[in-house]
Amino acid sequence: MPARPILRIGHPLLLQRAQSVAEFNTPQLDALVADMLETMEQAEGAGLAASQIGVLQRVVVFGFEDNPRYPDREPVALTVLVNPEIQPLGEEMESDWEGCLSVPGMRGWVPRHRRIVYRGFDPQGNPIQREVEGFHARLVQHECDHLDGILYPQRIEDMSKFGFEDELFEEHPEIEDAC
Ligand code: NI
Repeated sequence: MPARPILRIGHPLLLQRAQSVAEFNTPQLDALVADMLETMEQAEGAGLAASQIGVLQRVVVFGFEDNPRYPDREPVALTVLVNPEIQPLGEEMESDWEGCLSVPGMRGWVPRHRRIVYRGFDPQGNPIQREVEGFHARLVQHECDHLDGILYPQRIEDMSKFGFEDELFEEHPEIEDAC
């Protein structure tokens, strides 16, 4: 199960809608999931959609215990979700910093539904249903957006809050001199 190259923003496949998985519990699906998990782990990502490795099927993986990319986050159980659907719970939106393995080195301030129910299946076809909020809800919304060809920069409302991670979050002692 090799890690696969991750497509970066600008690649046309990232803008395509992925197709539903028609058959569960197949060697093809198991191999895809194994490659996705390996790819996510090697890249130290919190989530990955099949589209990001150029496979237009509705499969996402997500979850982490301690992730150096997201040191302050509550852990999310490692999950493989096939044919996911999301239903927002209530109107409440919440904005937070978001990154993506297909947009390396950058972060943006993205509004998402604060609470959702998500449903889908594991690779064997067993149903999964969870009610979640906060970062877990954000992660699932981000990954499922990939399956519809949407990258997080398209969700940013204030483009002044989009940039390179090291420029956004590191101190800039030179600014005092410049002002
Ligand atoms: Ni992403």
